[in-house]
Amino acid sequence: KRLGILFSGRGSNFLAIADSIAAGKLLGCEIAVVISNKADAPGLAAARDRGLAAVAIEAQGRKRAEHDATIVACLREHHVDLICLAGYMRLLSPEFVQAFPQRILNIHPSLLPAFPGLDAQHQAFDYGVQVAGCTVHFVDEQLDHGVIVLQKTVPVLEDDDAQTLSARILEQEHLAYSEAIARVISGDYEFAGRRYVRKP
Ligand code: GRF
Repeated sequence: KRLGILFSGRGSNFLAIADSIAAGKLLGCEIAVVISNKADAPGLAAARDRGLAAVAIEAQGRKRAEHDATIVACLREHHVDLICLAGYMRLLSPEFVQAFPQRILNIHPSLLPAFPGLDAQHQAFDYGVQVAGCTVHFVDEQLDHGVIVLQKTVPVLEDDDAQTLSARILEQEHLAYSEAIARVISGDYEFAGRRYVRKP
């Protein structure tokens, strides 16, 4: 399967996926292209260092649908089968979502449906939760809402602050994304309403 990875910044989740592939843990997977809406995203430079196709597609004041159409065209050009949003800080237009039905994944640093949106780890910490975590889910037209592929939990410790909690969640994110991709490309799972379950 050919992956298209989208991010806006650091790209540590992208790198974790790239590392899994390099370690032979995601057999049959390759990264076809990485795309960032920020030309100066550190993740883009890291992608180029690894010899991957890395493209900046900035919005440049264009309407969301127009910007997204350029991204969709780029993904098609690279014959992408599965799209992974990895810290991509823009909402996808309905046109983008509909162009790749059930073929777009996102990772979110909370146990959805709790704490959607920005700064999820801070939201969770400030709320006083005792268990936090991350979610890999299919993308639909609502923010942080689609069917869950998998979740991982972490404890909140007494001496945590939002930073130490975020770091603990991030470690799990790096494991969760590759596991979720493996699940999706295995062909062993199917949708059962809002559940994504192992086929009988
Ligand atoms: C991660 O916390 C991810 O869950 C969220 O954005 C952050 C991206 O981090 N969607 P990185 O760029 O992968 O390091």
